[in-house]
Parts: sequence; C-alpha cells; structure tokens
Amino acid sequence: MSMTNNSVIIEIKDLKKHFKEVKAVDGVSLKIKKGELFSILGPNGAGKTTLVRMLTTVLTPTSGDARVNGHSILKGKKEIVKAIGVCPQNITIYEVLRAEENVEFVAGMHGIPRKEAKDKAKKLLEDFGIAGRKDWSKHFSGGMQRRLNLAMALVFDPQILFLDEPTAGLDPQARRLVWDFIRDLKNREITIILMTHDMVEADSLSERIAIIDNGKIIAQGTPTELKEKYGSDNVLEVSFIEQEDLDLVKVNIEKIPFVANWKEVSRKERKTLLISFQGGLKNLVKLLQQGLIENIDEVENMKFRQNSLEDVFLNLTGRRLRD
Ligand SMILES: Nc1ncnc2c1ncn2[C@@H]1O[C@H](COP(=O)(O)OP(=O)(O)OP(=O)(O)O)[C@@H](O)[C@H]1O
Ligand SMILES: [Mg+2]
Repeated sequence: MSMTNNSVIIEIKDLKKHFKEVKAVDGVSLKIKKGELFSILGPNGAGKTTLVRMLTTVLTPTSGDARVNGHSILKGKKEIVKAIGVCPQNITIYEVLRAEENVEFVAGMHGIPRKEAKDKAKKLLEDFGIAGRKDWSKHFSGGMQRRLNLAMALVFDPQILFLDEPTAGLDPQARRLVWDFIRDLKNREITIILMTHDMVEADSLSERIAIIDNGKIIAQGTPTELKEKYGSDNVLEVSFIEQEDLDLVKVNIEKIPFVANWKEVSRKERKTLLISFQGGLKNLVKLLQQGLIENIDEVENMKFRQNSLEDVFLNLTGRRLRD
C-alpha cells in the first residue's frame, strides 16, 4: 500500500470480510480525508457495522487492508485505538456505573488526569442533556444511554470518531441534539465516519457520502453530486386557472439556466406545467423570485417534489433504502 497522503487519514484497500457464504464486506476501497465528515449510507445488512469493526480493529478482515491515521489495521491496533473514538451500534456502557463515572472511566483509560476528566465529563454530559442523572446507567432510557455512549467516545478528544447509527432509537428532539453536536464537532478538525441508513441524516450532515449495498460501495460523492448524477430532478408542478397565464410562464422558463426541461400536461380543466430543475430548494426559491409566476392569484395549485438520496438509492439498486 502507498504511503498515506497528508490529507488522507483513512485509506481502505480492497477490504473484505466474509462469514462463510455471507459476503458482509466485499472489496471496499475508500479514501477519507482529514477533518471531513464522511458517511457510509446503506440499508440493513449492507455491511456498515462489519466495516466499522474492521476499521476499529475489533474484527480481522478476510483480506485487504486499511490505514487508519497512518497505521495498518492488521498491525497497528495499539496506535489506532489511541486515536479513535467509537460509538458502536450496540450501546456499550458500564451498567452499574453512573453517567459521569462511565465517562471518567474512559478518560482514565486514555491517561487523562482525574481533575481534567471530571471537568470534561461534566461538560459533555451537560452538552448532551443528561447531567442531572445520578443513578446507575442501566436505569437510563435507550436514548439517554446512546447519548452517554457518545460522551464516552468523545471525552479523550479523538482524532477520528466512528459513529455507527448514532441516532437510532432517539426521539426527534434528541436526534436533533445529536445532529447539532455532530455539526459542532466539525469545527474541531475531528474526522467523523458516520454509518447510517437514514438518508436525511446523511444528506444534512455529510461532506461526502459512500453508498454501500451488499458489501460493496456502489457510488460516492458529495450529497449534491450524488443527487445530480443519480437522482431525479426536482419538480415543481403548477396548475393554472387560465391557459394564457400558463403560456406566459412558458416564455419565462426559457430564460432560467438551471431548468432542465418542462412539460405541459393540460387535462380537462387543469392546465398544468411540470418544471424539472437542478439544485434543490435553493433554486426553487430563485425560480419563484425570478418572476416565473407573475400573479399568484392565477395559480390553482402548486406542488414541489425534491430530489433526495432515496431517489439516488432507488435509481442505483431498484430498491428503496427502507425496504
Ligand atoms: N459475526 C457474524 N457472523 C455471521 N454473519 C455476520 C456477522 N456479523 C455480520 N454478519 C452478516 O453480515 C452482513 C452485514 O452485517 P452488518 O451488521 O455489517 O450490516 P449493517 O449494514 O451494519 O446493517 P444494520 O443497518 O442493520 O446495522 C449481514 O448479512 C449480517 O448478518
Ligand atoms: Mg449496523
């Protein structure tokens, strides 16, 4: 394997893990850059957790190799473990310890002095909204345990953070809390590898995404690149009361560069225009601001369908992400 480039912090080369006939990970190659938030998006059973477990040296690959922070996962376990924080899919906490004791324990294992560990634990638990709990962590709800697990993964300021389904089982409010926290981490130069089957999560947090299916990476790019390449266009559907108003809009459309195409589908009374365009919500706003529709009173109905990663996955595999 080549020397790790300065800006590449994880380099995966043809990594495989087969469990008998199950090809959980089947020849994954990827480069993840220092400081980026990289998501691996795929359905249940795609191989995400198996991939994380190899990268975090918990599981030995069947073949292939990866360099994590400059060390091979085959030979550099000790060095790798020092540099990474892991929040596993299955919550891993010490059940008969309190929240802060769990966090302080992990800090201790990483050689952080007691006083500093205490302060850090307190701060993190406050950030995650679980500072008030003083009982054993086995009595916490699933969502609280997950947040505690995140705090444990972060207390020693790891250079690389692996998050395997960090918002699974969280209510919408806690989910947003975790998302905000992940966004904040981006300002700290930490590299984050996020495993998820949640396309909204991947879309809103990631700088780059690799889509995994049946143990193979089937596409990668920024969320926008993926949607432009494999998605469907965003569609604005506008129905007019009068034909002449529709005709006016047709003239206006021609002048808008990001409109890919349009189609008139006037049925019965409804005179409807389907406008396909690139660029998502931003361009929807532009479209409307650029005087596409001069008089909103002439509009009978308007609908907007947004190109999403769901479309991308569907176009690539013929299946939905959540089948
Ligand atoms: N220890 C194991 N022994 C046998 N098969 C395994 C083992 N671990 C994983 N697998 C199989 O490998 C495949 C990939 O599993 P993995 O847990 O990596 O998927 P995943 O993408 O994380 O799925 P999920 O979204 O459900 O967490 C599955 O078919 C799974 O049953
Ligand atoms: Mg998993």
